[in-house]
Amino acid sequence: MIEISSGQDKNSSWKRTHYAGSLRREHAGTRVTLLGWVQRQRDMGSLVFLDLRDREGAVQVVFSSDRPDLQAEAKKARMENVVVVRGAVRLRGEKSVNTSLPTGEVEVEAEEFAVLNASRVPPFVVADPPQASEELRFKHRYLDLRRPRMQRNIRLRHEAALRVRNHLAGEGFLEVETPFLGKSTPEGARDYLVPSRVYKGRFYALPQSPQLYKQLLMISGFDRYFQMARCFRDEDLRADRQPEFTQIDIEMSFVDREDVYSQVEGLMKALFEVVGEKIKASFPRLTYAESMEKYGTDKPDLRIPLEIRDLTAAGRGLASEVVKRSLEAGGALKGLVLPGGGALSRGRLDKLDQKARELGAPGLAWIKKSEGFKSSLKLSDADAASVWAALGAGDTDLGLLIAGPAEKALRALGEIRREAVPVQDLKKEGFRFCWVTDFPLFEWSEEEGRLVSMHHPFTSPHEDDLGFLEAEPARVRAKAYDLVLNGVEAGGGSIRIHDPDLQQRVFDVLGLSRAEAEEKFGYFLEALAYGTPPHGGIALGFDRLVMILAGEESIREVIPFPKTTSALCLLSGSPSPVSARQLDELGLKLK
Ligand code: AMO
Repeated sequence: MIEISSGQDKNSSWKRTHYAGSLRREHAGTRVTLLGWVQRQRDMGSLVFLDLRDREGAVQVVFSSDRPDLQAEAKKARMENVVVVRGAVRLRGEKSVNTSLPTGEVEVEAEEFAVLNASRVPPFVVADPPQASEELRFKHRYLDLRRPRMQRNIRLRHEAALRVRNHLAGEGFLEVETPFLGKSTPEGARDYLVPSRVYKGRFYALPQSPQLYKQLLMISGFDRYFQMARCFRDEDLRADRQPEFTQIDIEMSFVDREDVYSQVEGLMKALFEVVGEKIKASFPRLTYAESMEKYGTDKPDLRIPLEIRDLTAAGRGLASEVVKRSLEAGGALKGLVLPGGGALSRGRLDKLDQKARELGAPGLAWIKKSEGFKSSLKLSDADAASVWAALGAGDTDLGLLIAGPAEKALRALGEIRREAVPVQDLKKEGFRFCWVTDFPLFEWSEEEGRLVSMHHPFTSPHEDDLGFLEAEPARVRAKAYDLVLNGVEAGGGSIRIHDPDLQQRVFDVLGLSRAEAEEKFGYFLEALAYGTPPHGGIALGFDRLVMILAGEESIREVIPFPKTTSALCLLSGSPSPVSARQLDELGLKLK
């Protein structure tokens, strides 16, 4: 390494010996050179204190009155100035130990000091928890990223990615990169398009996932593939969705579902070790139908100990007109017990009713015990007692009831269940994984007025259901599975179709004409015909997993440069208009 002499470049003559945030008791007596940013400066007259921050944390630097020259310099140092300090580490007096700082037992007595670069007054104080709005934080993300929590999150992301790569490599997986510039095949979300300059009027699409490429890699004989894959989807955003995100994308040949489950369980064990968590496998499994019946969702949060009850049989004997009418119309009666909910006020109950209606249920009734039974349904004592028994509720509980179309009743109760336990109590429950399996192969799309694939059109139907594929497609189960963690969809995958004829049958059910299938996926259908091994895989949402590992509520907190919920990059200002010349080169004209 070439040492740059001090005369050549004053900044690079300073070589860091330690990270400020790494200094501990055992460093007392050591001479150190620290390089970093001014977190804050306190002028106490005879002493000046300066907290110096780097990526490992911050340490207190003391400027004593023995060195008036240094003190004068330190007094001039401003927040976020880049500085160098050379000095000796010493133990702090017992009374001045700062137990909230990992470096709080020591301080550095400055012997040399220089401001290497000034900073404008920052738009917000760089400290946890952030005081600035998300908008301002994103506009100056480079400053926001200086916060210890963000430094920790981004580092955790790095460690998690490294662990995933090492673990999968150890299991014989090869990481293979697949193209960003691909063919547009809109299914599910909208594609981000990239116009071709050479072939005017033609477009590449950024991948929504490397699905077809990874299947092609199985046809190519790679056997076990993975990729930390960037995916791009032009869809409505939420706290756990970004227009570009990262998947741990996996595909394996000659496997069944069990092989995928055990590989992923092993991977999750390895991944959660990064935060010192021991994950127990194997994960519980629920079919989609069971998950909907018990939890009113296909993403059940198993930390919540409540299950929805089917009260339809008990409902048949009730005199209530509301219940009668619903059941006669083919509906169901579903119930949920909120433990200790008997004490909820009328106002809260009205809010729950309003919520259920917003979620598409015809309404929400309640029942509780207090001097006999009280209920918003007009129930005789005998009827109330039979509902109460069917709910299995205790004296201080609240029973919530919805009579109506089964799926709407379940989804509404599922949402109420999801919010029934305070977040603080849930946090104590740790990490609860489960597999949701046997999704329906197709679902009805109101928007398109046709059947669409619930997962994607390359998902294998369950062999037991092949007989209904054309006649009763809604009955066909898929060999598809989701990995759910604490109520978050952490991943999804399936065993794929490897037989070109079956693939064609699925396209036929989807109403995709031969010409359309050929135009969209012709290259893939052709490849399927050249000796495709049985194969399957999964993609795990890496941002979501890191979000959960970091204990954050939004994936934006674990993505260095995220977009807003309206898909804007506030830092760079993208998306942005382009020049007439650029458009012209691409043969494009704006409408
Ligand atoms: P799927 O579409 O279910 O499957 O995606 C897999 C996982 O990726 C994560 N995810 C997202 N994370 C952040 N922002 C988004 N916009 C976003 N969309 C999805 C979720 C999800 O479970 N090719 C198939 C996988 C396969 O069949 O192997 C696929 O992409 O955690």
